[in-house]
Amino acid sequence: MGPRLVIFGRQGAGKGTQCAFLVDHYGAVHVSTGDMLREAVAAGTEFGAQARTFMDAGQLLPDEVMVGVVRERLGAPDVADAGFLLDGFPRTLPQAEALCAIVAVDLAINLEVDEAIARERMLARGRGDDTPEAIEERLAAYASQTVPAIAWFESQGNLVTVDGIGTPEEVSTRLVEAIDRRLGE
Ligand code: AP5
Ligand code: MG
Repeated sequence: MGPRLVIFGRQGAGKGTQCAFLVDHYGAVHVSTGDMLREAVAAGTEFGAQARTFMDAGQLLPDEVMVGVVRERLGAPDVADAGFLLDGFPRTLPQAEALCAIVAVDLAINLEVDEAIARERMLARGRGDDTPEAIEERLAAYASQTVPAIAWFESQGNLVTVDGIGTPEEVSTRLVEAIDRRLGE
């Protein structure tokens, strides 16, 4: 069984960027709820159309919807064998509690990048939901809804914080060091 990891970090922190490296390094499955929703939008499903209205506004989808999506994905055989790296979930306290009822998480990582740099990175990236209005909405939702989920993992002694500033390679090295140290304990 591979590692079961959660990666937190505000929008634009570089979660997706680092997950591409980390899943390769650890052989775990990248489970990105944002990527899954964008795939549903691209596939033109009814669910995708509903998801799009939330995403374009920078708002979170309802907890029960996202918990259902993640429960199904984590139940697939590839994840059971290889472990997972959850990116974009949980992002509320109810999602965190639901996750821990579904599966035991080995470690949560908080990839820390301040708001000003996260804004710059998102504006440079220019994804469909990277409009100035949606960026502000998403950053505000992070502060009010996701920070309590991070605090919950921390209160359980199951969180490590890693500085996300630097080149992608520097950040990757820091992440692997922090993860290996904690998983080796
Ligand atoms: P999601 O796709 O999760 O988007 P997000 O939270 O806005 O996070 P990002 O993907 O913007 O940030 P990232 O940390 O992955 O940064 P990246 O690696 O791209 O969610 C989208 C939407 O889906 C949500 O708004 C919501 O509506 C919905 N949703 C998803 N999950 C949900 C849930 N659980 N509950 C409810 N709703 C949900 O990096 C950013 C940029 O910086 C890139 O251009 C990258 O090249 C660059 N970069 C990365 N690292 C570095 C570096 N070290 N130095 C310089 N540049 C860098
Ligand atoms: Mg991402």
